[in-house]
Amino acid sequence: MENVKTLGEFIIDKQQDFPGSSGEFSKLLSAIRLASKIVSNKVNKAGLLSYIVGAAGSENIQGEAQQKLDVYANNQFIKALTARKVVCGIASEENDEYIPINNEGSYIVAMDPLDGSSNIDVNVSIGTIFSIYKRVSPVGSDLTEADFLQKGTEQLAAGYVIYGSSTMLVYTTGKGVNGFTYDPGIGVFVLSHPEMKFPTNGKIYSMNEGNFYRSSNGVQEYIKYSQTIDADTNRPYTARYIGSLVADFHRNLIKGGIYMYPSTDNAPNGKLRLLYECNPLAFIAEQAGGAASDGKQRIMEIDPTDLHQRAPYFTGNTHMVEKVESLIASEG
Ligand code: AHG
Ligand code: MN
Ligand code: MN
Repeated sequence: MENVKTLGEFIIDKQQDFPGSSGEFSKLLSAIRLASKIVSNKVNKAGLLSYIVGAAGSENIQGEAQQKLDVYANNQFIKALTARKVVCGIASEENDEYIPINNEGSYIVAMDPLDGSSNIDVNVSIGTIFSIYKRVSPVGSDLTEADFLQKGTEQLAAGYVIYGSSTMLVYTTGKGVNGFTYDPGIGVFVLSHPEMKFPTNGKIYSMNEGNFYRSSNGVQEYIKYSQTIDADTNRPYTARYIGSLVADFHRNLIKGGIYMYPSTDNAPNGKLRLLYECNPLAFIAEQAGGAASDGKQRIMEIDPTDLHQRAPYFTGNTHMVEKVESLIASEG
């Protein structure tokens, strides 16, 4: 066991990376770690316990209100983040408005508590995405929407949890990306993927190609480019699409590739949410040597105007993101 590093130890080791921090930030990460374990435990039972899957709003056999897994995950993360008293507010995909927590807290969290919810009922990987900022309003004052509407470049940390064949927590604080695999036998996350980087020889492209004819010419050209045979550039690429952003992103991070959710003729800003889907994964992508774009500009430089705003999204290996950007730019 002596070479094993747990997430708890890792967080303490890295505490000195935050000058002046009194350990508050570490408490926040510990809260996320705890909620992840609770949700992981529940996800693993989703196939067995019929009251976990299915629509919220109905009652289970004991007459208790049934909670859909994304409502359950939302509640668990909010509970854990509230208990540590370091978070002043949370923006969640599951809540229309931001949730004020504690005016004395310094940090705000934006999260997608359960990503890939269409995959819950079919035993396919799902995830949680989180993004952490320092508030811009003074500590002690009431929270404002401006605390949440910060550019992705202001993120202090971001990460995701993937509930897959094993549960993993992957995060960055701006000093590289590290991945931890959960061992349910002893209840700890163990550092299994230190210093994660996109491999440069990756060849995966991931898009819901049902949207091909709804996409712009540049995106259609990129799909055709991905399918074209060319030995020099390792094409055709391989198509992989799970329909869980976290799982698609995680696979591409490990194997190399690009994930795309472009604008379509019926959804000009695409589908994914800037604050708690695009930005956190963009931070990880860049820290892993990759890139993230809305097709025209760096995702993390978009100035947000709305908690739940959407953005077209292209992320993965830098050369792949740049290629699709260039085809979009020459659309005319
Ligand atoms: P969520 O479950 O949080 O609403 O997110 C679903 C998202 C994302 O996970 C996934 O990549 C995308 O929706 C899939 O959309 P399509 O079914 O349109 O491909
Ligand atoms: Mn999502
Ligand atoms: Mn979600």
